[in-house]
Formats: sequence, C-alpha cells, structure tokens
Amino acid sequence: MMLSNQVHFMKMLLQLCFSGVRSILSKVCSWTFTWVNMTNTRMQRIPSATVSPRFTSNSGQKKSLGVNGTTPSSVNYHFTRQCNYKCGFCFHTAKTSFVLPIEEAKRGLRLLKEAGMEKINFSGGEPFLHERGGFLGEMVRYCKEELQLPSVSIVSNGSMITERWFEKYGEYLDILAISCDSFDEDTNRSIGRGQGKKSHLEKLHKVRNWCKTYKVAFKINSVINTFNVDEDMREHITQLNPVRWKVFQCLLIEGENTGEDSLREAEKFVISDQQFQDFLDRHQSVSCLVPESNQKMRDSYLILDEYMRFLDCREGRKDPSKSILDIGVEEAIKFSGFDEKMFLKRGGKYVWSKADMKLEW
Ligand SMILES: C[S@@+](CC[C@H](N)C(=O)[O-])C[C@H]1O[C@@H](n2cnc3c(N)ncnc32)[C@H](O)[C@@H]1O
Ligand code: SF4
Repeated sequence: MMLSNQVHFMKMLLQLCFSGVRSILSKVCSWTFTWVNMTNTRMQRIPSATVSPRFTSNSGQKKSLGVNGTTPSSVNYHFTRQCNYKCGFCFHTAKTSFVLPIEEAKRGLRLLKEAGMEKINFSGGEPFLHERGGFLGEMVRYCKEELQLPSVSIVSNGSMITERWFEKYGEYLDILAISCDSFDEDTNRSIGRGQGKKSHLEKLHKVRNWCKTYKVAFKINSVINTFNVDEDMREHITQLNPVRWKVFQCLLIEGENTGEDSLREAEKFVISDQQFQDFLDRHQSVSCLVPESNQKMRDSYLILDEYMRFLDCREGRKDPSKSILDIGVEEAIKFSGFDEKMFLKRGGKYVWSKADMKLEW
C-alpha cells in the first residue's frame, strides 16, 4: 500500500513538471500573496497592532506608514511656549520656557522627514521670540535647503518680524501666516493680541508687503470669539489678498485655557456653533476662506510640543506622547490621536509649495 502511494506520488510530480514549472511557481506566488494580504488586513483591525510597513516612494524617499498607515505628512512644531502677547483665549500657553538645542531639533526634523514628512509648520508661543528669530531662521533654512521639504511655513503674531529676517531667510520659506482676529485695533487690544502701544494692524500690513517683496506666500489666521463674532472682515481680507484665510472657532483646551492648571480662562471667548456658522455665512463671498470648527481642529493636526512629543487633543486636553527623540516617530505617532481622514477632509493637503502656487509676486 505504502509503495503504491509513493509510485503514485512520483507520477504526479513528473506530470506536474511537464505541465510547466513556470505556471506552478506563478500559482504558488499568487496563493502566498493572497494569504499575506488576508493576514495583514486582519492585523490592521486590532487597534494596538504594531504593523508598520515601509515603502519607497517614487522619489526614492523612504516613508514610514506608522500604525494603521499614518504618515506624518504635515507636522506642526510648537518649539517654544514663550510669547510677547497675552491673547485671552490662547490654547498653547507659556507652561515652560524650554527650547531644544538646535542640533537636537534638527535631529528630530530629520527623523520626521525620514518618516514621510512633507510639510513642517513652525508655531509656538511666538516663534520669532527665541534668539530674535535666529533659531527659527536656521530651522527654516535647514528644512528647505538640507531636508528639501516641499513646504516650510510659520504661524506668527507678526510683531517681532523684521525685514532683515526676510532678507536672510525669506527664500527658504513657503508660507507665512499672521494671526489677526480683528481689523479694529481696540478689539485686538481687548483680546490681548498686542504689546504695549504697538499697532498690530500696522505690522500686519508691513509683513504683508515684505511677503510680496521676498516672495513668500501670505496667509491670515483669525480666531472667531465673542469679541469679533459680529465683525464684517470682507473688505480688509480682500484688500490683503492672502492665499488662505483660516477661520477658527475659538477652542477650549483643558490645562491650557480652561480648568484648574490653566494659565488662561477662555470661557468668556467661546461662541456657539450657530454663531460660528453665521460668521461664515457673512463671509461666504471670500473665496480663500478655510473654516475650522472645534470638531475639525481637535484631531486633524499633528502637533509636536517643545520636547518633540506628539500632543493628543481628542479628550479636550493635550496629552503628550514620549518624545520622538527617545522612541522614534513610528512609536510616538501612535499616541498622537491624529485622524488622517479628518486631516484630508478639512483640506489639510493643498498646494503648499510656493513654487507650485503660481503667484503674481
Ligand atoms: C498658538 S498660536 C502660536 C503662533 C503665534 N503666536 C500666533 O498667535 O499666531 C497658533 C494659532 O492658534 C490660534 N489659536 C490660539 N488659541 C486658539 C483657540 N483657543 N482657538 C482657536 N485657535 C487658537 C492662534 O490665533 C494662531 O493662529
Ligand atoms: S495666540 Fe496670542 S498669546 Fe497665544 S501664542 Fe499666539 S500671540 Fe501668543
């Protein structure tokens, strides 16, 4: 019986050889591929799975997909918490005075680039405060010249920016966003967006012109709150002609601008969803307006704090991960709370290199 089985098996083998080794191999490959795919799909459904496939993009650049395929394509690095303004609603307050040494900051930026970062936005606190913009300038140059990131941008209150800075670093910067919540100087002062007698609006116009001269795309950010919710900003925005006007609904964050340990009490600035919608309706003719409701803001940003820790805002506070400098981007990003779908839905990916904007400078 055993012998007859063996003979039968040998016969089968020979037949298979004749029918073409190539076709057998291709079948085996196809079965293996299907099996591996099924296994991966099953693993991705488990939230704590540590599947982190790597691939090489067309440009030959290594990209990490992180957990559940998350790529840190657009990152906001709040490298300082210090600020010269006192906006009453501020949700990123001066809880520490820590700033990483420049070489460590650069190491982190390189790690992010290796993990797939395409856009970096420098924020704060006020990013032009530390070393009078020298620290920021060096990071901007490094990201554009050495890391060759498609997009390098800054969000600032504008007050500390000088023409000298533009001369030195303007060529490396794609987008500069200046925050302005009102076109009435007194309203800005009541909000806390100002320092001493300096005019926030005068500086805004100055910076806008420097952006033109030094070929940097100009953007405006406004936080809609109880102080400006009834304002009509159409004329001013049209005149300033930014590439984008981000309009935020004032957001509360536990430990930052609300709750026991917070440095601000922003409750009196908060507006309802309906009030926010009314503001948007009034400004619907402004084509560059990009609205951001509270819900959109909470989980659609990848935020790094001054220690290069991702901040998870889903619970209404900023829960930090470990630093990417200690555990790497792939591990840290699992604790970022980042919702890539919401990021894409809110238009997080747009034409963000100034070279692609076709602007008439
Ligand atoms: C924290 S600030 C840091 C950069 C800079 N100091 C500035 O004011 O532009 C970054 C952005 O967040 C906005 N922001 C601050 N507090 C906010 C809040 N409670 N809700 C919505 N946006 C807020 C600011 O207006 C600014 O556009
Ligand atoms: S929102 Fe105002 S207080 Fe907060 S960091 Fe920006 S300028 Fe400073």
